[in-house]
Amino acid sequence: MRMGLKIKDALKIFPELQKYIKNGKLDFSNREARILYNKAVVKAVFGIEIEYHPKGLITPPISRYIFLKTFLRGGEKVLEIGTGHSALMAIIAAKLFNCEVWATEISEEFFEYAKRNIERNKVQVKLIKSRGEIIKGLIPEGETFDVIFSAPPYYEKPTKGVLTAIEAVGGGKYGEEFSLRLLKESMDYLTPGGKVSLFLPDKAPLLNVVTEEGEKMGYKVRDIKFKAGTRIRHSLIFTI
Ligand SMILES: C[S@@+](CC[C@H](N)C(=O)[O-])C[C@H]1O[C@@H](n2cnc3c(N)ncnc32)[C@H](O)[C@@H]1O
Repeated sequence: MRMGLKIKDALKIFPELQKYIKNGKLDFSNREARILYNKAVVKAVFGIEIEYHPKGLITPPISRYIFLKTFLRGGEKVLEIGTGHSALMAIIAAKLFNCEVWATEISEEFFEYAKRNIERNKVQVKLIKSRGEIIKGLIPEGETFDVIFSAPPYYEKPTKGVLTAIEAVGGGKYGEEFSLRLLKESMDYLTPGGKVSLFLPDKAPLLNVVTEEGEKMGYKVRDIKFKAGTRIRHSLIFTI
């Protein structure tokens, strides 16, 4: 599969991108330009149609695919915590990896966007609205998954501008609290041999505390580092 998309090819899909091009370069600092370019990428590369929430986080789609590729083989029963408005990972897991997908989202508005994106792409995703729960009290007891994955909120406190608080704040000293609660609750929802995978940034204190606390819970941890555009990302994979 070809990963990425030339600007001239993106233009064929969304001619309105033209107004954000200067000297052959796309102005990625412009939010509308990023939205249009990402829509073109998901359409051309994955055959997926996404509508982005006007205020939500706009994430590079290829990084999400690479992350999924670090732990999915195809056909697994999976649970995603926090689809965001795009629901792109849940849709890719269902459409490209043939997974049976369950997914949750806490924000009312993102949930509605996620639902429409799932419907628009005609994939089966069981989308569940969280009211503050992560897994316990939300996913029926006895339900188990081969993989539970998430791009969790991971900032220690609200950041200026880029993300809304619900997308961003993981809590704890290094932003680890959300991830640790997810890991703890996952224990009762994994099939034998099942795993949890977290998409995390390249921040050593955060990675270290999540790894150490995960090990204390009884997980074995593997860290797969990858480059997405200019950024280093980590797929932390936890197995029992
Ligand atoms: C960093 S964003 C990731 C969004 C998307 N999955 C992605 O990869 O771009 C985290 C998402 O988790 C959602 N979220 C936060 N707390 C949650 C909870 N308790 N249950 C479900 N979703 C939650 C946020 O609203 C946000 O959409």
